[in-house]
Amino acid sequence: MINSSPSPLVHIETFGCQMNESDSELVRALLKGEGFSFTQDRERADVLLLNTCAIRENAHQKIYAQLAELTEWKKQRPLVIGVLGCMAQNLKGELAEQEPLIDILVGPDGYRRLPTLLAHALAAQEQGFAQRGFALDLSEYETYEGILPDRDQGVNAWITVMRGCDNFCSFCVVPYTRGRERSRPPESVLTEARDVAARGFTQITLLGQNVNSYRYGDWDFARLISAVADTPGIHRVRFTSPHPKDFPPALLQAIATHPKICKHIHLPLQSGSDRILELMGRTYSSADYLALVDRIRSTIPNVTLTTDIICGFCSESDDDFWETQRVMEQVQFESAYIFKYSERKHTIAARKYRDDVPEQTKGARVATLVEIQRGISRERNRRYIGKQVEILVERDATKSPTQGMGRTDGNLTVVWEKGSEPFTPGTLITKYIFDASAATLYGK
Ligand code: SAH
Ligand code: SF4
Ligand code: F3S
Repeated sequence: MINSSPSPLVHIETFGCQMNESDSELVRALLKGEGFSFTQDRERADVLLLNTCAIRENAHQKIYAQLAELTEWKKQRPLVIGVLGCMAQNLKGELAEQEPLIDILVGPDGYRRLPTLLAHALAAQEQGFAQRGFALDLSEYETYEGILPDRDQGVNAWITVMRGCDNFCSFCVVPYTRGRERSRPPESVLTEARDVAARGFTQITLLGQNVNSYRYGDWDFARLISAVADTPGIHRVRFTSPHPKDFPPALLQAIATHPKICKHIHLPLQSGSDRILELMGRTYSSADYLALVDRIRSTIPNVTLTTDIICGFCSESDDDFWETQRVMEQVQFESAYIFKYSERKHTIAARKYRDDVPEQTKGARVATLVEIQRGISRERNRRYIGKQVEILVERDATKSPTQGMGRTDGNLTVVWEKGSEPFTPGTLITKYIFDASAATLYGK
């Protein structure tokens, strides 16, 4: 398909969640299959792709800052610029109009068209004009079945098992950027699991915006994750992100009993106030959530629970906020991602409610929860002091190359002095924990 030679060099940068990381691996596979090559060095690239996120306004801002810089680059040399992913899908024509330097806009369901669109843009550029290309239709069926992602080497392999989301939480843009929920056939997931094991990955993380609502014929998520965890050579299987509505007993049993399925559940709470949860369209009350936490903890002893919380959603009062603090204190999460509410175009909240909590109040509430959570995380982590933990070795610690870094089954970060002992990423080792902070366990 590509006739301009030598093969064009592509550089891709990824923003946002693991789904985007996984999609970038897919994009690499699709483009390499059509004769494109990749470079890590964006200065050398003929094509620059930004795989973008739209979840909060600061995600958009990051991309606008990149585009401002690239406007200067493009004045100096030929360059094809493509914006992929959720922001492309969310803003569509508006983004193309505002940012004339963009040649290509492709949403999460349009990646099969990317090689052709890039080839046309490059051919046009060679002849001295610009040809813009867009692939922004969402699909009810696209799962990219049959394409083996071009993965970064490492310990963990992401496997996307379902795409899209049908929940329409009122604050969230994902249903508009990623479209309707659809699951991949289990055979194709299992083939991919065997493939990554053969390539030396020892951990798999199953991905989906709503991963536990996976459904394909008789296969539900409990059956799928158990089958993936049976893959020879794989030490650990994780999953993200689940929704609290989809935790049938069979799934909790599978997590509790399968030795390879990690005892960690990321369970987004969003708010502890029933009034706000109702406005958010989360479909559970704080009591439902707490009952689920009890069910999880009684079925899976020593499970790690983490969460997401939004502060300052439309009309959130001090009392509502206090309810969130109460639930946080009660559950005692190992860690929490805490966000300021950011109004998103198209969403139910943008259409129906007023974003009326002042920025400053949102910020103060986030700071309060971060502080509370830091104390809780520290307490939770200190319970490991004096214990042996099993760690999957990942890499050198960020702070010092003399230290190794890995994670427990519950996804807690451990660092230790490597010394003279063998250090092999991807293997399981045991360490004795002698100290702990809010973010890290220290082993020896
Ligand atoms: N599908 C995942 C979450 C995707 S987004 C799930 O349902 O768990 C990750 C987190 O971003 C959400 O859990 C939520 O806490 C936060 N988030 C989503 N939309 C947001 C918004 N408009 N403003 C602030 N935070 C938001
Ligand atoms: Fe967004 Fe809700 Fe879907 Fe998660 S479940 S992606 S928060 S709409
Ligand atoms: Fe962002 Fe899209 Fe992921 S909006 S969080 S990249 S699904």
